[in-house]
Amino acid sequence: MAYDTIRVERREAVGLVTLNRPDKLNAMSVAMKAELVRAFQELDSDPGVRALVTTGAGEKAFAAGADIGEFVGRTPAEQWRMHDRGTLYEAVDRIEKPILAMINGYCLGGGLELALTCDIRIASERAVLGQTEVDIGLIPGGGASQRLPRLVGMGNAMRLALTGDRIDAHEALRIGLVDEVVPHARLEARTMDLASRIASKSAVAVRLAKTAVRASMRLPLDQGVRYERALFALAMGSEDREEGVRAFLEKRPPTWKNR
Ligand code: COA
Repeated sequence: MAYDTIRVERREAVGLVTLNRPDKLNAMSVAMKAELVRAFQELDSDPGVRALVTTGAGEKAFAAGADIGEFVGRTPAEQWRMHDRGTLYEAVDRIEKPILAMINGYCLGGGLELALTCDIRIASERAVLGQTEVDIGLIPGGGASQRLPRLVGMGNAMRLALTGDRIDAHEALRIGLVDEVVPHARLEARTMDLASRIASKSAVAVRLAKTAVRASMRLPLDQGVRYERALFALAMGSEDREEGVRAFLEKRPPTWKNR
């Protein structure tokens, strides 16, 4: 499928989605968000793809937020209607396959919110992250007010959202905003290696594990643990469980059927 504002590639079992407006620091226009939704849905339903990675084109940015130029003159009614059919962030939230954010530079506002909806965040040492909407008289609009405190705690979430301060990759790692920081030159290799390793596991097990862990974002502990128990029982019935256990006992690598 053709795209104007993003690039979509397949690298073996990994689908790579690159925000592609490097001269605008990959600022996310309405058109780009619509293309991202389309690309993510397409890759999520492609049986040859087992993991997704998203990143920004160029050397400077993952995404410097929403395209601020498009905010000029926008009314509350227009803003509200824009989300009638759901947001990019809701679409990413519904992706069943693992999705990794490869954060190669500025990761601000809506760009950080995109990274926050991903499952794992790997950052270059050059990355700069911030929830910067307050600087232009706005607030987070892509879920950060809810996802940030769950990820980095209330104090850090407040600090980021209320000051708009930009922090470096090491500070982001310290507060748990990213999961790993690597030298810039190693970012792609490290992220693709991680994605490929996930892609090499049983797709059934990976999907159920992701579903269970993500449920912890919305369920109280007792319900979450019960939900996990049901998913564990479901995994017990898969052909991959049979193969995985047999392979272990026969001291050989498993051959997954992804069923
Ligand atoms: N929306 C629209 N355009 C953006 C943008 C955004 N969020 N972020 C950057 N750009 C554009 C700039 O306008 C500039 O375009 P131009 O060359 O046509 O003038 C180009 O990208 C390069 O940005 P520039 O500001 O010149 O780069 P810089 O290295 O001096 O500064 C930033 C980088 C990230 C600090 C700065 O661009 C910035 O603060 N951007 C906005 C970040 C933000 O607040 N995002 C949240 C929005 S809710």
